[in-house]
Amino acid sequence: MLNSVIQANPLREGLGSRTAPESCTLVIFGATGDLTHRKLIPALYNLAADGTLPPAMSVVGFARRDKTDDGFRGELREAARKFSRQGINEELWTSFATMISYHRSEFHDITGYESLAKRLDTLDATMGTRGNRLFYLAAAPDQFEVILENLRKSGLNQGKNGGWARVIVEKPFGTDLPSARHLNDLVEDAFPEADTYRIDHYLGKETAQNIMVLRFANALFEAMWNARYIDHVQITASEPLGVEGRAGYYDKSGALRDMVQNHLLQLLCLTAMEPPTGLDADAIRDEKVKVLRSLRPLEGAEVAKHVIRGQYGAGAINGKRVAAYRDEANVDPESATETFVALQINVDNWRWAGVPFFVRVGKRLPKGGTEIAVHFKSVPPVLFKATGEAVDDNVLVIRIQPDEGISLRMSAKMPGASLRIEPVRMDFHYGTSFGKATPEAYERLLLDAMSGDPTLFARRDEVEQAWKFVDAIHKAWAESSEDLNFYASGSWGPAEAEDLIKRHGATWRRL
Ligand SMILES: NC(=O)c1ccc[n+]([C@@H]2O[C@H](COP(=O)([O-])OP(=O)(O)OC[C@H]3O[C@@H](n4cnc5c(N)ncnc54)[C@H](OP(=O)(O)O)[C@@H]3O)[C@@H](O)[C@H]2O)c1
Repeated sequence: MLNSVIQANPLREGLGSRTAPESCTLVIFGATGDLTHRKLIPALYNLAADGTLPPAMSVVGFARRDKTDDGFRGELREAARKFSRQGINEELWTSFATMISYHRSEFHDITGYESLAKRLDTLDATMGTRGNRLFYLAAAPDQFEVILENLRKSGLNQGKNGGWARVIVEKPFGTDLPSARHLNDLVEDAFPEADTYRIDHYLGKETAQNIMVLRFANALFEAMWNARYIDHVQITASEPLGVEGRAGYYDKSGALRDMVQNHLLQLLCLTAMEPPTGLDADAIRDEKVKVLRSLRPLEGAEVAKHVIRGQYGAGAINGKRVAAYRDEANVDPESATETFVALQINVDNWRWAGVPFFVRVGKRLPKGGTEIAVHFKSVPPVLFKATGEAVDDNVLVIRIQPDEGISLRMSAKMPGASLRIEPVRMDFHYGTSFGKATPEAYERLLLDAMSGDPTLFARRDEVEQAWKFVDAIHKAWAESSEDLNFYASGSWGPAEAEDLIKRHGATWRRL
């Protein structure tokens, strides 16, 4: 049992229902890796600090390097100190660390899973974790197959004594539709869909969850959320960072696979979907899949017209010179990998007929941020025309990160004797409005998996449908790399991306 310093968990209010995380053992495959240090352990520690962990819990780190439990805990303590959103409290850490242990094994060694099974039985008896097992695949994707196979062969894919067994699979979930299907089949051989949790950490972000509340709990917005009132939608994810240490992965992936197939299409789905019949996981995911099925395919010649790809050249970020993508370590000097992509996506259904969704993502852009901007149609150019005053359109901006919040641009009369119209903003900031820090996405997602709530995880058909859309673009790109555009680091991407949105009579927002 957790030490008394950690409070018992209160019931947690989920998106759908009030659920509580259940006592369990979390086994992390790849526990000495970056994700565990930077995200998973800080998230678990924060949950412990907030008193939201289940009543009994243990964490077993699985990796191949030789380590003692104490050595492993010491490394994680450093990671939590560095990456936890609230720093660490020594007393709480000491109490939290008692639930952590290390299990050394190679992923391919079945005996390591057999000894793990025995260890989990002991933990059930000593920690009260009730035969419930949550397996987190925080390893390289090419290791997923062997881990899943060994979990199945060792019987670990079943809970013990009436308990459950669930699996969390990290991104990337495949590299195209065939590989995603193959991975889905492998997962399905070991775990039923209901026990499979495919991470898309954007869905765990508070503002992403708020999209549904904003739309369906406010008559003001939902009444206007359609082609009659909305001119277009812009979804942007920009970052000043380059490829950093991830070139090996990124050069094979590119922005479309890395960001659009998962995170940005998920944001598009939440923005465009119809009201679900309920707040349960399948009702919501059914509606998201319908959006994905309604995306007008971008194929053949349509790709060059509606998709702009770019790669960063040398330039300056915050006054500092940075190298071109092709000059980065471990990048092919002739690489045609896109570090920027802008797309015009059409959702061919009744609600969105004629409303383009402009989606853009890029590295080495001047500023970092992710947002959805809903641009409303112009008012009839009648009343204020004679005054010569320009009236800006209303724009509703949902800021996913950083400074999570929502703002609405409106027109207002400037004080004074003459009629001057200026844009003003109504702003809501999570940080100040609720007076508490928003939890990290991984905190929410880990709790949901412990509670058996897959609402914020991608379902098999969502993942496959999104790959189908993205694969068609890759197919066209594979036939020619002529349309790869270069942009200077520190700029907002290639000029062709500006032309794409200009054709609709709009311009990209500057974040
Ligand atoms: N890092 C992130 O911020 C991030 C973000 C999003 C998604 N992801 C995804 O999360 C997953 C993990 O990423 P990561 O950055 O944490 O990877 P990483 O730092 O390379 O860590 C890999 C882990 O796997 C273990 N491992 C490798 N081969 C093994 C083997 N044969 N047997 C046993 N253990 C083995 C390593 O253990 P040893 O140390 O013992 O070798 C290490 O613990 C990937 O799927 C990645 O795409 C990561």
